[in-house]
Amino acid sequence: MKALVLGFGHVGKALAGILPDAIEAAAICTRNGAVLNPVLDELLAETDNRHLSHSRAFAAMDPLDAVQNLEYDVLVDLTPTNFSDAQPSTTYWRTAFERKKHVVTANKGPLALHYGDVTSAAEENGVRLLFEATVAGGTPVFSFARHCLKGAEIVSAEGILNGTTNYMLTQMESGKTYAEALLEAQQKGYAESDPANDVQGFDALGKAVILANALFNQDTRYADHMPQGITEITVEDISAASKRGECFKLIATVDESTLSVKPQQIPKTHALANIGDAWNALTFYTRHADAVTVKGRGAGGLPTASSVLNDLWELHG
Ligand code: HSE
Repeated sequence: MKALVLGFGHVGKALAGILPDAIEAAAICTRNGAVLNPVLDELLAETDNRHLSHSRAFAAMDPLDAVQNLEYDVLVDLTPTNFSDAQPSTTYWRTAFERKKHVVTANKGPLALHYGDVTSAAEENGVRLLFEATVAGGTPVFSFARHCLKGAEIVSAEGILNGTTNYMLTQMESGKTYAEALLEAQQKGYAESDPANDVQGFDALGKAVILANALFNQDTRYADHMPQGITEITVEDISAASKRGECFKLIATVDESTLSVKPQQIPKTHALANIGDAWNALTFYTRHADAVTVKGRGAGGLPTASSVLNDLWELHG
């Protein structure tokens, strides 16, 4: 199977390092164009990955040109999320669908803004759109729900879906300032390219919208909601909560008709209270099997790349 990979940031580099023999990178489009000879040595040095050698033949190429003209089976979108208009990814995906190519994405933009449109476009063209990496990084959420909870019947879900803010709240509990905690989260590669999306709750909102559509067929869009982030929470608030046996978590809640993202003070005995650092967790409340929680790495290149690879294996069979 041949993958055309768009994006060579934390996730793209990690994916290049773990691609198995069965999945070949037809090309990797960096911010400056498709992989080309002058940068190839640098890419190879960074990833030490033999699969990139297949890309030697390509000259510099605009990503849309690559999507339109290269031979591949699946488009892998690892470009940064854009919640303003979800471009240029939406155009890349549509072009790929029209060419009967599958899409696997870690980019949340097109799903958060136009879930119904992009999933219908994939369906109409008889191809698949898989997006495990968009929510909770390396934690299986959609494949878990699809394969393991169909019999249980999911009624609602609540979880910690943003690694950056969870890392910051955890660090602030141990006395770090907001600014120190944010800088560390950025240095560790958890934060979005614009960290305002993390701290103001927009990244978690994008994920909650994808969950609401995928798990509950809500037909809802990012623009229909306003999240509450963690920017107003101070170290003093956190320490006062701690004295009461509580902690702050940024929690997303979805069911068949509602969706919210806001900081909540929860008792330290709550299932989500001991989810620290950049870990994410999602509790599914079900009709027949009570509550089922998955916990995993919510951000970072390699865990997220592992979810992308999981989707690629699902297509490969
Ligand atoms: N910035 C995101 C987070 C990365 O911190 O969870 C994964 O979407």
